[in-house]
Amino acid sequence: MAEVRLVDIEKRYGGFLAVPKQSLTIHEGEFLVLLGPSGCGKTTTMRMIAGLEDITAGDILIAGARVNDKPPKDRDIAMVFQNYGLYPHMTVRQNIDYPLKLRGMNLADRKARVLETAAKVELDALLDRRPSELSGGQRQRVALARAIVRTPSIFLLDEPLSNLDAKLRVTMRAELKHLHHELGVTTVYVTHDQMEAMTLASRVAVMRDGRIVQLDTPKKIYAEPADLFVAGFIGSPSMNLIDGHISGGLFRADGVELPVDLADRDGVVLGIRPEELDITHDTGAAISGKLYALELTGESTLVTLRNGPSSVCARGHADFEAEIDSPCHLKPRTGARIHLFDRETGERLG
Ligand SMILES: Nc1ncnc2c1ncn2[C@@H]1O[C@H](COP(=O)(O)OP(=O)(O)OP(=O)(O)O)[C@@H](O)[C@H]1O
Ligand SMILES: [Mg+2]
Repeated sequence: MAEVRLVDIEKRYGGFLAVPKQSLTIHEGEFLVLLGPSGCGKTTTMRMIAGLEDITAGDILIAGARVNDKPPKDRDIAMVFQNYGLYPHMTVRQNIDYPLKLRGMNLADRKARVLETAAKVELDALLDRRPSELSGGQRQRVALARAIVRTPSIFLLDEPLSNLDAKLRVTMRAELKHLHHELGVTTVYVTHDQMEAMTLASRVAVMRDGRIVQLDTPKKIYAEPADLFVAGFIGSPSMNLIDGHISGGLFRADGVELPVDLADRDGVVLGIRPEELDITHDTGAAISGKLYALELTGESTLVTLRNGPSSVCARGHADFEAEIDSPCHLKPRTGARIHLFDRETGERLG
């Protein structure tokens, strides 16, 4: 367990600035998730913490000690790489056992530990195969098992569940959450999957173009996204973002009129989540249009209505039915959060 501090770190690849100067403190025992689109610098940040990538400027401190010049093996880190990084000539058993062997644990303890860990990631039946004889998801689980087989000071997990099927992903997510509860190891976890970020994280760092644009608890990020980018990235289906303007205390766009607490201005984007909209028969409702699509998800129906170019999605009852192209009206639920952003800068207003 250790605190990790990134102080004014920067990473350049030749002339390309992958991570511009920034700082981040990952608290001792925290589960921090780096979330952001492809190419935003998540893996680069992880590799700098692990010592696999030199930093161009700044300092990295682990448990208060500067580690800039420490090789990866001296940082007491266990890592899952995005490309697995398995030893091809070793069996699954040997791959998982390797970190224990390296640390000189006795054979009997190692055997027990490997079996226990393999069971956690549902690999017990595949222990004698080599990586080339495994599917992508199975390889990924070997990588995960190799990381969690011992208790390091820090876990760095780069999309460790990305290749698993939906069911296994949910099982493994719970497994990781439990493991973190049990061991309390400081964990940095990379994902594209906002659901994974929300469910696992103590705090989420949302990244864009190498920069952290918001660092907060999942609750706060969901309830109060700092800008348009975060608003659109967190939540599934994503937040409705409607282009319009404010006049006379109302946000206005085609088919939309919603009271807001902001002075008149142009170039405003209003955000409201699908789960905070109700379908109504009231023709004077805040949002009106024609029904465009109905998608049953099981526990609910996603209702999309269109008005001109803009579409708005609401999460309705599973048994909601209506004719496509029929008039449709939506109203915010009581207590619904209305978010307002500046269209140009993306910044949150009010
Ligand atoms: N060795 C390298 N040389 C040059 N540019 C690189 C190198 N490694 C990464 N980059 C660039 O740095 C940026 C960040 O890459 P990084 O791998 O950290 O992204 P990522 O957030 O992990 O993306 P993904 O979600 O696709 O894995 C990208 O624009 C990438 O092209
Ligand atoms: Mg990556």
